[in-house]
Amino acid sequence: MSESRWSHVDAAAAAVRSEPDESTGLAAARGRPARGVLIAVEGGDGAGKSTQIARLTRWLDSRGRSCVVTREPGGTELGRAVRDLLLHGACVSPRAEALLFAADRAHHVETVIRPALEAGQDVITDRFMDSSIAYQGAGRELSADEVRELSMWATAGLLPDLTVLLDVPVQVGAARRSRRGGADRMESEVAEFHERVRTRFVELSRSAPERYLVVDGALSADSIGEIVAARLESTGWFEGTP
Ligand code: TMP
Repeated sequence: MSESRWSHVDAAAAAVRSEPDESTGLAAARGRPARGVLIAVEGGDGAGKSTQIARLTRWLDSRGRSCVVTREPGGTELGRAVRDLLLHGACVSPRAEALLFAADRAHHVETVIRPALEAGQDVITDRFMDSSIAYQGAGRELSADEVRELSMWATAGLLPDLTVLLDVPVQVGAARRSRRGGADRMESEVAEFHERVRTRFVELSRSAPERYLVVDGALSADSIGEIVAARLESTGWFEGTP
């Protein structure tokens, strides 16, 4: 995975993130984004994202922040149809799969995420572009650069301010999933696929550590919640309401 090809999109996205937002008039105090804060929660299947998203939402509520919780795929009406095709439909070729996840993301960013951020609301999204780079790039073995550039085009350069990666061994995730029953098309992939996905998530976090919090997803939900809260507290982004 070549990082150099990605640096121009990172620089463009950083510029987008730090521009003063005239519509909300928010000051970028202590590096606070000049709008609501975008947090992505990522991880393999069975990583415990839903539990931590519920905690994160309560944490933001307790700070008096207005927050939108959403997900990919399926954060919009269009996205719910795409989710059904992708997770519960028949075989989808790898490139078509990458394009459908990107289409879901483009519509989600344009109609849900960006409007909320610009209105000063924080957004927590259950998965974002790292899932495409991990699942389609590494899982399906497409080019990571191409999948990332496709996503950057879909989001018009929007990146999360913070990505919380819940990292669990593949067997732990699989055991949690099997307790839930009814594996979908991605969850039914072989262990090697999920190993590649896990490895890629961790590589992504190492390529830009300031934008990630990697937590051992095998810890108790309480411990993970405390680690996440401590990181959010340390950013200074949530001092005072927007
Ligand atoms: P989940 O929302 O229940 O976590 O399931 C979504 C599934 O879709 C999960 O297996 C990961 C997969 N996925 C991709 O393969 N690429 C993507 O870009 C996204 C957002 C999800």
